[in-house]
Amino acid sequence: MGLLRKSSRVFPGLSARRRRIWIKLGLEWARLPWQDKATFRRVKSIANEIAKKYAAVISLGIGGSYLGIRAAQDALAPPYYNEFAASRKKRPQFFCEGNNLDPDTLRALLKNLNPKKTFLIVISKSGETAETKAAFAVAEDWLKKGAGIRYGRQILAVTDPESGALRNRVNAEQKRDSLSFRGLPLLKGVGGRFSEFNMGLLHLAIIGVDIAELFAGAREMSSRCGAADLSVNPAAMYAALHTILYRKKGKAIALMMPFSETLKATADWYAQLLGESLGKKCGRKIAMNRSGEEEWLKDETNIVNVGRTPVSCRGTGDLHSIQQNNIEGENNKITTFIRVEKFRDEVKVPGKGDILAGRTFTRLICLAQEATEWALVQESRPNCTIIMPEVSPYHWGALLYFFEMATAFEGELLEVNAYDQPGVEGYKNYMYYRLGRAGMPEAISRKIENHPLIKDPKFIV
Ligand code: PA5
Repeated sequence: MGLLRKSSRVFPGLSARRRRIWIKLGLEWARLPWQDKATFRRVKSIANEIAKKYAAVISLGIGGSYLGIRAAQDALAPPYYNEFAASRKKRPQFFCEGNNLDPDTLRALLKNLNPKKTFLIVISKSGETAETKAAFAVAEDWLKKGAGIRYGRQILAVTDPESGALRNRVNAEQKRDSLSFRGLPLLKGVGGRFSEFNMGLLHLAIIGVDIAELFAGAREMSSRCGAADLSVNPAAMYAALHTILYRKKGKAIALMMPFSETLKATADWYAQLLGESLGKKCGRKIAMNRSGEEEWLKDETNIVNVGRTPVSCRGTGDLHSIQQNNIEGENNKITTFIRVEKFRDEVKVPGKGDILAGRTFTRLICLAQEATEWALVQESRPNCTIIMPEVSPYHWGALLYFFEMATAFEGELLEVNAYDQPGVEGYKNYMYYRLGRAGMPEAISRKIENHPLIKDPKFIV
């Protein structure tokens, strides 16, 4: 009850903040569905040019610069888009790479594509992320060797509008040739996981998704999520109930289970959104800076170690997998179902005399979702269902916006900064140190030297 009361205090507060101090607090992602028409037109014209000229596009990026694109591709492109030319309707194949350091996948991709017919997009806010940077170096070299001296015209970077290694490269190359190494800006201060409506636009336009519809859905969700009354605000309600169950009942695992194959990658995207935004060691303190603006600071004196653990799965496939644990394992989870009411296509089981015969797959998958819900309720396992009329740009835009707002609200309730990711720095720093990066902060180098990774042989079997 205490938390519910707090929710009604906190949420209108966030709405006011949303209007006042977008940039300072990293909330400007909430305005992305209102982007101006000029950005839109520029993205579309580049996308049309790429779609006309190239047989394939490779997009390099990791984390937020990858998962949104994967989610959009699976949800909004025709299924098996890359595999079947007929489904693509003359649009290029679209591959994502640079989201790992696995040499096998990158090599296989480059081996099988023609550099003269491939366009390269590199997405990185910082321009420094090791995975993206390494993959870009390899892919650029491959283009250089295979596409001729004007290979730079086959490269576009989506990056910070002003600073960073990638932005500097774009600026330098553009001075030499304005058609080479073009750049599209990422909104300043927006983390990758909140930027599908920004960094994902070029991809959406290339594969032929109606972006206006996507934004219309997001805008309609925004108006619903701006309501001060908790009972009609879906994102606030979602955040409040999940936080209460987490804080008061120990439901620390967030299982995202769309009943749709094409939404599995959206569940993966949500796993990153929740995990990276809310899994925090320190609480947040709000301070006033010299210009009288609010600033969110990490409160090192307030160790909270909070955040629900996301698990992404999908029905019906995972009913034959982790669902056993969900039903009978530790009762520490909340399942979110996404139920799709209308699919793009329909399939009917042929024949007669069998209970499945004559049934549509839509009927069967919806029944499977209902059955799973029933089974969870029998075991007193909390769950909720998001009903999606169809997986269209409009409803998918609304779904993403809903999750972003719900995560923002949950961050408010947990009193953490949902827009940073200090925990990710640990592995990066260690890697950079071991690779001999110049200018490492003294404190970090000392920490690594003083606490080396020691493997005690007696624990090695
Ligand atoms: O959500 C985020 O901000 C992160 O997941 C980043 O997108 C990810 O770390 C990649 O960073 P960058 O875009 O700077 O290469």
